Amino acid sequence: MVTEEDLRSDIRFYFDGQVRILDDVRATDMVMPWLRSEAMRTGTKEGCNEGDCGACTCLVGSISESGNLQFSVINTCIYPLAYLDGAWLISVETLSRSGSLCSAQSGMLPLNASQCGFCTPGFVMAMVYAQITKKDQTPEQALAGNLCRCTGYGGLIEATRIAQSQPLDRAFVDEIEGATAVLRQLSRGGFSIINHNSRIDAPKTLENLLDLRKNFSSATLVSGATDFGLWITKRLDRPSHVILTKFCEQLLLREIRSDIIEIGAAVTIEDLENSLVSEYPELQEWFQRFGGPQVRCSGTLGGNIANGSPIGDSAPVLIALGASLTIHSCRGRRVIPIENFFIEYGKQDLLRDEVLVSILIPRRTHIRRLAVEKISKRYDQDISIVLAAMAEISGDKPSYRFAFGGMAGTPKLAEKTMESLNPDDLTSDFTPLSDHRAEAWYRLAVSKNLVRDFLDGDTSRE
Ligand SMILES: Cc1cc2nc3c(=O)[nH]c(=O)nc-3n(C[C@H](O)[C@H](O)[C@H](O)COP(=O)(O)OP(=O)(O)OC[C@H]3O[C@@H](n4cnc5c(N)ncnc54)[C@H](O)[C@@H]3O)c2cc1C
Ligand code: FES
Ligand code: FES
Repeated sequence: MVTEEDLRSDIRFYFDGQVRILDDVRATDMVMPWLRSEAMRTGTKEGCNEGDCGACTCLVGSISESGNLQFSVINTCIYPLAYLDGAWLISVETLSRSGSLCSAQSGMLPLNASQCGFCTPGFVMAMVYAQITKKDQTPEQALAGNLCRCTGYGGLIEATRIAQSQPLDRAFVDEIEGATAVLRQLSRGGFSIINHNSRIDAPKTLENLLDLRKNFSSATLVSGATDFGLWITKRLDRPSHVILTKFCEQLLLREIRSDIIEIGAAVTIEDLENSLVSEYPELQEWFQRFGGPQVRCSGTLGGNIANGSPIGDSAPVLIALGASLTIHSCRGRRVIPIENFFIEYGKQDLLRDEVLVSILIPRRTHIRRLAVEKISKRYDQDISIVLAAMAEISGDKPSYRFAFGGMAGTPKLAEKTMESLNPDDLTSDFTPLSDHRAEAWYRLAVSKNLVRDFLDGDTSRE
C-alpha cells in the first residue's frame, strides 16, 4: 500500500506553455476563480456559478489509457482545481496564443454571433470541443450546455456548423503536440494536500481509497463534482476534507464480458455512452438529454446513483435493465440489485466506510425491447419531471420491468403494474408529489400514457 510519505503534496498541470505546481489548493477550490484571480486569464466568464450557463467553459486534455490525448469540455465554476492534476487546462486565451484568432473565433465575426460578448468565450470553447471530438453531433447538441442572452442562436449554430467542418488550426495542432509531450511526463493523482484547515486526498488504488474511507468516514467523497460543486458555490458548504475518486483506477474500469458490462463508478456519463450505446442503441437520446456536454464530461454514473436523487436519470434505466451495484469497504465486497440501494428519500444502502465501486449491467441477451422517456420542461439540459424506463424481457411468456424516477421519494419499480400490465395500476404503485416542476396528477397521467404506449408497442413518438 502507498503510505503518506510516498504521496505528492501538490498538483501539477500544464497551462499556457508551463507546468504549474500548486501546493496551496483547498478542498473547495474550483478552476474558475483560480483562472480569473490567480492566473489573471479573465476571458473565462462567471455567469450562473452552478454549471448551467456555460460562460465558464474550458477544455481539459489528459492522456487516456491508450496513450492518446483525450479532451473534455468542463464548466470551470464547478470543476475542482485538484482535478487538473496531470492534465492540460485550455482556456479561451490558449486558443489565440499564436497571436491570431482561431477559426472558431473568426468564424463568428461575419455571422454577428456575438453582441455583449459575455457568453462568447464559453461558446467558442464548446465549438472547439465539437471541432475536435464531435464532428457528427448537430450544432444544437454541441451547444446544449451554453446560454446566450442577447444574440440570436442562428449565428451561433451556423458558426458551430462551420467550425465542425474545418480542420483544427495549425497553431492549435502545434499546442497539442507540445502538451502531449509534457503530459506524458506528468502523473495523474496520488497526492494528499493538507493546509489551511483543508485536506484533499486523491488515491490511485482502491486499497488506498477504502483505507481513507475507513479512517476518515466523515470526509466527503467526490467524483465528478457536478453535485458537489453546487454545494460549494450555492449552498456555501465548506467541507474541510475531500476524498477524490477520479484518479482511482478500479473506479474507471469499463469491461464488456460475456454476460455483464461492468462500469466503474467514476466513469463519466460521456465515457459511459461510448460503452453502452452499441449494446442499447435506445439509450442514444437519453445520453443526449443528460445535462449538456460539460455536465456529461464531468458527472459520473456512480455520483448519479450515490446521490440518491429521486429524479436522477440513470437509476430508472439501470433498474429496468436489472443492474446491480458492487459496494466495497475494508471489510469486504457486496453486490446488491440497484433497486435495493434506494431505501427512502435521502437514505441509501451505503455505510460511512463504504464506496460504490462499479455497476454491473446485464448484456442485451434477454431484453427484447427497451424504451426510455424523459419528460421535462425543456428538451436540453433540464431536470426530469418523470423518467420512465421500460423493458420487455423475452421468455416463454414475456415479462416487463417498468422503473420510474420522479414518481416517489426514490427511483422505483412499478411492481403492481408490471404484474397486471394495466397502466391504471400506477395509481397503486405511486403517490407522486406536486412541486414546481409538475403536479401529481400530471406525473401520473403522463406515466400511464407512457406505459400504455410501450405495451402497445408504440415507441416511435416524438
Ligand atoms: C447543469 C446541470 C445539469 C444536470 N443535468 C442532469 C440530468 O440531466 N440528469 C441527471 O440525472 N442529473 C443531472 N445533473 C446532476 C449531476 O450532474 C448528476 O447527478 C451527476 O451524475 C452526479 O455525478 P458526479 O460524479 O458529478 O457526483 P458528485 O458531485 O461527485 O457526487 C454526488 C454524490 O455522490 C457521492 N458519491 C460520488 N461517488 C461516489 C462513490 N463512488 N461511492 C459513494 N458515494 C459517491 C458523493 O459523496 C456525493 O454525495 C445535472 C447537474 C448540473 C449542474
Ligand atoms: S458560470 Fe455558468 S456554468 Fe459556470
Ligand atoms: S452575446 Fe450577450 S450573452 Fe451572448
